[in-house]
Parts: sequence; structure tokens; C-alpha cells
Amino acid sequence: MPTLHWSPEITLDHPEMDQTHLEFVDLLAAAEDALARSEAEGLAAYQRLVEHTAGHFGQEDRWMASTGFAPENCHSHQHTQVLELMQEVTRLARDEQDFGPLGRVLPELAKWFVQHAQSMDAALASHLQQVGFDPATGVMARPPLAEEAQTGCGGSSCSPSPSEQPAAA
Ligand SMILES: [Fe+2]
Ligand SMILES: [Fe+2]
Repeated sequence: MPTLHWSPEITLDHPEMDQTHLEFVDLLAAAEDALARSEAEGLAAYQRLVEHTAGHFGQEDRWMASTGFAPENCHSHQHTQVLELMQEVTRLARDEQDFGPLGRVLPELAKWFVQHAQSMDAALASHLQQVGFDPATGVMARPPLAEEAQTGCGGSSCSPSPSEQPAAA
């Protein structure tokens, strides 16, 4: 039984983001399933999730960079922290045969993702819609003024508390 299901509460009505998020949900469920069978299968499936997440975060970071976000914005910063944690969990399982963090990170990621999608990703989707950004061409129909460089993330806080980050390692 997967911890995270696709549902209207995590749908952002942004087709490219929703597609990527649907894949994240599926890969997370596949990793939970695989880990229930064996540690080796769980690690292999988890590595597919990590690889997909690097692309997922990279895509959102590029969209932010192309639409007026400052490089040091907190949404991108959270992506970096979460991806580093995910990679550390891979390292511990693969190099040290420590599978405890892998078992713990999956439900933590499920919780984290709902919160992230509903705050930072939802704010990004609405920003992209406001500036009329076309992900296919990278063109903005209504570019923001240069002095409006975005550093915020649309979440309740720019320094997410530890409870807002997945904790496993
Ligand atoms: Fe996302
Ligand atoms: Fe994001």
C-alpha cells in the first residue's frame, strides 16, 4: 500500500509539473513496493527515484531562473537540500549496507512532497501562469520587471523548519 497517492490536493493544473509530480508519486510507490520485497530491489528502485528527482528539481530550477527568480531563492535551496539528503541515503545503503535510512526516507519524502507541492510548487505554478511562461519554448508572454527578482518561495517560511524537511539519514 503506497504512502502517497495522486490526488486533487497535489494537482497544480500545470500540465508539465503535474506530469513530473505524477511520475514522482509512481516512482516513490515503486520504491516502497520494491523495498518490501528486498533491500537490493528497494535500492535499485530508490535510485530511479533519485535520478528522476534530480531532473524534476532541475527543471523547476531552470524555469525559476528563466522567469526572474534570483539564483539564491529558497525554493531552489530546498531542492538542493532534499536532493543531497536523498543522495546520502543512497550512499549509506550502497556503500555501507545501511538500509535503515532508506526505509525511513520513503514515508518522509511522501509527507515532504505534499507540503512542498502545496506551497513552493503551487506558488511557482501560479508565477509561471502570471508571466505566461511556455515551458516548450522558454518564452514569457508577460515578463516581470527586472527589479522584481523573486527570492521568496511562496511558502509560509523561507527557512523551512526541520519538520518540513524529510529526515532520515
Ligand atoms: Fe516539484
Ligand atoms: Fe519544487
